[in-house]
Amino acid sequence: MLIKARDGHYGVPQFNINNLEWTKSVLTACEEMKSPVILGVSEGAGKYMTGFKTVAAMVSAMVDSMGITVPVALHLDHGTYEGCKACIEAGFSSIMFDGSHYSIEENVEKTKELVALAHAKGLSIEAEVGSIGEIADPEECAKITALGIDFLAAGIGNIHGVYPANWKGLDFEALDRIHKATNNIPLVLHGGTGIPDEMIAKAISLGVSKININTECQLV
Ligand code: 13P
Repeated sequence: MLIKARDGHYGVPQFNINNLEWTKSVLTACEEMKSPVILGVSEGAGKYMTGFKTVAAMVSAMVDSMGITVPVALHLDHGTYEGCKACIEAGFSSIMFDGSHYSIEENVEKTKELVALAHAKGLSIEAEVGSIGEIADPEECAKITALGIDFLAAGIGNIHGVYPANWKGLDFEALDRIHKATNNIPLVLHGGTGIPDEMIAKAISLGVSKININTECQLV
């Protein structure tokens, strides 16, 4: 899905889901727009919905009973090591391991193990370098990309939630350096809520293929 987006110069939305109604709305809208979609599930949302197995069963049944024809992926958002393993077993199609709060060595070690586990079961895997709100180091991004991950989240001044009035915007120079250091891997832009359309378009032109949105739907 994301390689097609990268090569076709467009972005795929990741909408987080928190219950059945969110899922129904996202699927309805993406079917109407004829857009592929990634359903993101945080560990908290997974717990709220009684577990990742429930989520996987619900999504699979809804895609079937709603007659959804666009591609739908089910992806763990900001997963821990244990959460990633649970989603691999629960039937997710994709996971994110967020090791950005570890040292780069530990992030590399854990990401490497999860790449092997995910790929053995046919799941794709996203990794993260440089926590939200920070600017990622291109060399660290290259190290994580070399592990065989499928897409990479790298901080470029984006944050979760509503942006403060004095937000300086995305750091496109940093994005360009990261893109050049990571062999054209599809990049992920977290914190999609409140980023102006023209910044989203520019980010896509510089290698972003997946845009994550949660707060905007929470507010609605
Ligand atoms: P927002 O809540 O800011 O839209 O960010 C969502 C996100 O990045 C999920 O990983």
